[in-house]
Amino acid sequence: MIDRETGFVVKGTGAVVTGGSRGLGKALGQALAAAGARVVLVAREADPLRQVVTEIRERGGEAHAVIADVADKDAAYAIAGQAAALVGRIDLLINNASTLGPVPLRLLLDTDCEQFAEALQVNLIGPFRLTKALAGPMVLRGSGTVVNISSDAAVEAYGHWGAYGASKAALDHLGRIWAAELEGTGVRVLTVDPGEMNTRMHAEAIPEADPASLADPARVAAQILSLLQREPPLPSGRRVSVGREPDQQPERAS
Ligand SMILES: NC(=O)c1ccc[n+]([C@@H]2O[C@H](COP(=O)([O-])OP(=O)(O)OC[C@H]3O[C@@H](n4cnc5c(N)ncnc54)[C@H](OP(=O)(O)O)[C@@H]3O)[C@@H](O)[C@H]2O)c1
Repeated sequence: MIDRETGFVVKGTGAVVTGGSRGLGKALGQALAAAGARVVLVAREADPLRQVVTEIRERGGEAHAVIADVADKDAAYAIAGQAAALVGRIDLLINNASTLGPVPLRLLLDTDCEQFAEALQVNLIGPFRLTKALAGPMVLRGSGTVVNISSDAAVEAYGHWGAYGASKAALDHLGRIWAAELEGTGVRVLTVDPGEMNTRMHAEAIPEADPASLADPARVAAQILSLLQREPPLPSGRRVSVGREPDQQPERAS
């Protein structure tokens, strides 16, 4: 349950996390379930997702798998419907599933328009559709939280990261506009840059990176959980960077 006055309470919260089969989404699902949330995890590939659900249940948590592609135009209401049937009201949506676009990463001049559009479908339009499907009931109830997982590529103009960076920059701005439009409804929209993590996405993007130099997604998930529970609650529209050691980069909110 989420309460306007007291902030976010994880226990019993119905939560939808996209991209829940590995990396940060898996860690968020595990952390939320361990804290008592009723978790619905979404991904395209069934076996790895079901494996995560099984592991969570074996540890006494509640988790469910919904197999879906967030880029699919018909997926959003199907995900929302299945999630509601499985856990009841959804108080938390984490738009975490993402694609890098074409890999190896390439210059915009070498990026097909279709590849660029695909990155927008997964990283921007998918979260827009899912937020539309789930934020309506939150507004009616007067409470809820939407978290968009972004990247520093949304802010810095890194060469070769064009499709991904543009999609994440648009996602950041979309979050700010959602927050402005939902002001006063009790529904808050936050954007989180998780920093560099030791995940498959990072390995695909920068294969030469030393995994030991990258954050453990479990640690980042714990930081995101504590952001959600912060008192006083983080105001809607806030963008927060996590994942780095305090001496590497202080948490920044913009
Ligand atoms: N790793 C980093 O260093 C880093 C840095 C900054 C930001 N981020 C952001 O952090 C988030 C998590 O990244 P990650 O590194 O954990 O990624 P990851 O390891 O590649 O995991 C991605 C997850 O998303 C799912 N997914 C991908 N496309 C999907 C689609 N179209 N529909 C539904 N599910 C989909 C994948 O499962 P299926 O393939 O089975 O669908 C998987 O569960 C992303 O938003 C990413 O942009 C990551």
